[in-house]
Amino acid sequence: MEVVNTKEELAEQLAEWRHNGDHVALVPTMGNLHAGHTALVELAREHAERVVVTIFVNPTQFGEGEDFDKYPRTLERDKRRLKTTPADLIFAPDVETVYPFGIENATIVSVPRLTEEFCGAKRPGHFDGVTSVVARLFAIVQPDVAIFGQKDYQQQLVIRHMTTDLNIPVQVITGETVRADDGLALSSRNSYLSDDEREIAPQLYEALQYIGRELQNGKRNYDDLESAAVVRLDAAGFATEYVAIRRAENLGVPDRDCDELVVLAASQLGPARLIDNIVVTI
Ligand code: PAJ
Repeated sequence: MEVVNTKEELAEQLAEWRHNGDHVALVPTMGNLHAGHTALVELAREHAERVVVTIFVNPTQFGEGEDFDKYPRTLERDKRRLKTTPADLIFAPDVETVYPFGIENATIVSVPRLTEEFCGAKRPGHFDGVTSVVARLFAIVQPDVAIFGQKDYQQQLVIRHMTTDLNIPVQVITGETVRADDGLALSSRNSYLSDDEREIAPQLYEALQYIGRELQNGKRNYDDLESAAVVRLDAAGFATEYVAIRRAENLGVPDRDCDELVVLAASQLGPARLIDNIVVTI
């Protein structure tokens, strides 16, 4: 698997593909690839002849005291993974390549409203970091399509908003959440869990599924469903930030007639902040 680190090497390869009439799909990642990421690479393949995976642990989306320094960096293993689920190229730039004026002088792309609640409230500046880096990756790679995971539900909505609002000519596609056999959504941060915590972790998804069933059974007491889930999770050992039932389309507060809902949750379990969601059509 070929890895390039500079914009020049990348541009050379892209020009050759473009010359041959190939379409390009982009899968942005921070590396430490797992089956969730490789499923996005497979989905990318369905949409373009060429697939570029970016691996860049983006400093601007980590807050003070977050895990930027200890975030797992596993390029050699990632390269091997992308041999089995082949991408055409890995673009692994350094910070100076992505932020040529330095982080202090970087242009910030900021999506309002959608970023105010949930992960945006808990992690101030996080989504500005995400949109600022994704806008750069779109400009550098100029893909036809870009693939993001439903696992980060709010993130993919924010990126869709940015792309539409700025008329960026990239089609954004969302891939389903890939889970372990016991239901836990795969995440690089799962590696922070102890064995005991790993046993408890699937209860997050179970809580979402329970709410999903209740909604499908006609329950509409959203507040009660949310708070009961928080109580149950916290009793199991989580410290829950939010469980929220919202409109799938835009995270707005749903009325009783809304038929496309998303149930979102974020919960701290020991050292790991776990997030998950399910979309429920009723
Ligand atoms: P990262 O956490 O590495 O995730 C890269 C992509 O993989 C994201 O689109 C994420 O939603 C998706 N993903 C993660 N776990 C998944 C799972 N279990 N199933 C399906 N997809 C999954 O998200 C980021 O990086 C960054 O914010 C990034 C978009 C790369 C910007 O820096």
